[in-house]
Order: sequence, then structure tokens, then C-alpha cells
Amino acid sequence: MVPEAGLEPARLLRTQDFESSASTIPPLGQKTGQRYEKSHIIKENKYLSLPIMDNSLADILKKYSSVFAIYDRNVEQYALEVASVAGIDGDRMMAIDAGERAKNMDTVLRICNWLLDAGADRKSIVLAIGGGTLTDTVGFAASIYKRGIAYANIPTTLLAMVDAGIGGKTGINFEDYKNMLGTFCQPEFTWVLPEALQTLPEKEFRSGSAELLKTFLIADAKNYKKAVEVLSGTPTIGKMAPLISAAAAIKETIVNDDPFEQGRRRVLNLGHTWGHAIEWWQSKQTPAGTLSHGEAVAIGIIQAARRSEAEGIAKKGLADRLIADFRACGLPTELPCSEEELCPAMTKDKKSADGQIQFVLIEKPGKVI
Ligand SMILES: NC(=O)c1ccc[n+]([C@@H]2O[C@H](COP(=O)([O-])OP(=O)(O)OC[C@H]3O[C@@H](n4cnc5c(N)ncnc54)[C@H](O)[C@@H]3O)[C@@H](O)[C@H]2O)c1
Repeated sequence: MVPEAGLEPARLLRTQDFESSASTIPPLGQKTGQRYEKSHIIKENKYLSLPIMDNSLADILKKYSSVFAIYDRNVEQYALEVASVAGIDGDRMMAIDAGERAKNMDTVLRICNWLLDAGADRKSIVLAIGGGTLTDTVGFAASIYKRGIAYANIPTTLLAMVDAGIGGKTGINFEDYKNMLGTFCQPEFTWVLPEALQTLPEKEFRSGSAELLKTFLIADAKNYKKAVEVLSGTPTIGKMAPLISAAAAIKETIVNDDPFEQGRRRVLNLGHTWGHAIEWWQSKQTPAGTLSHGEAVAIGIIQAARRSEAEGIAKKGLADRLIADFRACGLPTELPCSEEELCPAMTKDKKSADGQIQFVLIEKPGKVI
């Protein structure tokens, strides 16, 4: 979908500020009750660094007729913080159960009904606060409600901070297939709250790590090495923040060059043809498999590396190197089933054309084709 006039694409730059609070930050997972001083907003070509209780967000939101927030029930604490900063009343806040199973048309219709009842108009904005399943679903609802109203992402998972929350791909799962219905509709801005990583479960953190590594494998060999170092050691929010910033900037640059995925943007799908097929396959198992989206993508990237070697695109040894790196970062690397079992989903993948599966292959870290 072409964005409505007046909905500018989100853009970003980096900030040195991101690193400023690094030294005082404890390892992820250690809950200290300590508050971090800064949150970060990606808007109009700059990261603005905002004190959390600052009213700058309220200022930014002044141009909209009304502000609504839809949040993942699991991140209520951050939603309340945003509401307090942005001055959003309780009756304009909607909690939903997020997650892959809720990423469907029922949830979209519930959101649209609620927006209608709550009086959202063409000049309103909806803030989507949560992980990628929430931002994808809310973005989709916003993009079709009254032919599209403004929305902004406030991602709370690592995966959404570096990937799902940026780039304007919205969507839901349909008929057992991932992201089968969706639109291209850019968020007005993406506001990253690195402090939300404090409460993120380890498995979800690892899931986001895979997308972070993917982004650097695509375009930044130096940060790929740095990210492996950080993720295989003791990641802190301070160490993660510059990596999040760099990965978000790469994604944003690629998306700005090709917002509707007609060309270069498809490199962002590295590992995803296998990844989505693995997610489809495991949903058919009893009991269903437990690999997260990022974990499935990690396995998909290894498959891409193997294929790149087999086709002579990469030098021998690439797959082994990535396997060692990914394992050190706590990511899975082996397919949970045979490749044949994944075929039905791979041919239905949105990225396939004329029945041909389109793979993104790796020449070397930092370069893909
Ligand atoms: N639009 C895009 O460009 C794009 C790109 C990549 C992935 N995606 C989509 O993103 C989805 C995956 O997103 P995800 O990994 O963020 O999953 P998610 O939204 O399901 O979140 C994972 C879990 O973490 C919880 N959670 C979220 N933030 C938390 C926090 N700060 N503290 C504690 N718990 C928290 C959630 O409630 C959920 O249980 C997939 O559906 C995928 O298709 C979209």
C-alpha cells in the first residue's frame, strides 16, 4: 500500500548519546530496579535522546487530533510510562495479548472496532507498544482503518528494535502462513526504549540477536564481529545500544532505497525463506515446536551459507564459521526436519515468484546477493 499523503516515512540517524549511559548499566537479566536516563526516538533524520519523563513525546504528538496506544499486555509497565510521558488517558489505551497466535484477523478487527468506538479519526495516531507481533498487527490495523491512519512503533523486544519496528511492513498470519496478509505502510516514527531489554526473556533476546546478526551479515562485517563478541559474552544494555543503533540505521537505509521491496530490500530476507518454512512446519507438529522466529531465521541463515558455498558464491568454510559464531551466541544451527518437509511452505513463500524460490545468498560477512 502506498502511504497516504502526509504520512512521512520514518527515518533515522545515529547518536553518540546512545553510548553515554553504558558504564553504569548492569548485564541484561539482572533486575536492579535502576532506571535508565535516556530513551531514543528515531524521527525526521535524527535520534532524539529524551529523558524518560520528558514531555517531548507529547510535543511530537501535538499535531495529531488524538493519540491512542495499543500495547502488549506483557509490557504494561512501559505502556504506562509512555502514556504518562505522552499524556494519554486510560480510555485511549488498549491492552492485547500479543504473540504469533494473536497475530490474526480477529485481533485486527477487534482493534478496528475499538478505534471506531473510541472515536479515532483520519488525523489520529496509534502508538504500537510491544514486540514485532504487536507492531506488525497494530500497523496493519492502522493501515486499513479508514483507509489508513498514522501509527508509530515503540518496540520493546530486541527483534522489533532492529527489525520489525522499522521499515513499514505490516501484516498478520493467514491460513497457517506467516505474514500472508499485509501492507507497506511506514510508521510516523520508531521510538526505541533500550531499557525494555531489562525484562525481555532470554529466549526472546536470543531471537532478536539472530536478526541483529543477520543485518550485519548483510552489510557490516565489522559490527558482525563486534556483535558476536558482545552476544557470546555478557551483553549489557550499554553494549547493545550502539549495535541496535547501527543495525536500525542499516535497515532504514535499505528500506528508504526500496520501500516496496522491488529490489535491494529483499536482502533483508536473508534466512527467512527457510525460517518461515521452519515456523510453518513446527506449527504442524504435535506438540508444536518451540523455535522462536529469530531462532528459525538463524537456522535459515546457516542453510543460506551452506547453499552459498555449494553454488560457489562463498568460499568453503563460511558455513562452519557462522555455525561456530551462532552457537557461541546461543543460537540453533540445525534444521529440525528434512528440507523436503519444508518445501510446501517454501514455494508458498511471498518471496517466491513463478514457483521459483528466491534465496538470498552470502558472499562473505557484510556482502550478500
Ligand atoms: N515487519 C517486519 O519488517 C518484521 C521483521 C521481522 C520480524 N517481524 C515479525 O515480528 C514477529 C516477532 O516479533 P518478536 O520477536 O518481537 O515477538 P513478540 O512480539 O511475540 O514478543 C515476544 C514475547 O516477548 C514479550 N515481550 C515483548 N517485549 C517484552 C519486554 N520488554 N519484556 C518482557 N517481555 C516482553 C511478548 O509479550 C511476547 O511474549 C514475527 O511475527 C515476525 O514475523 C516483522
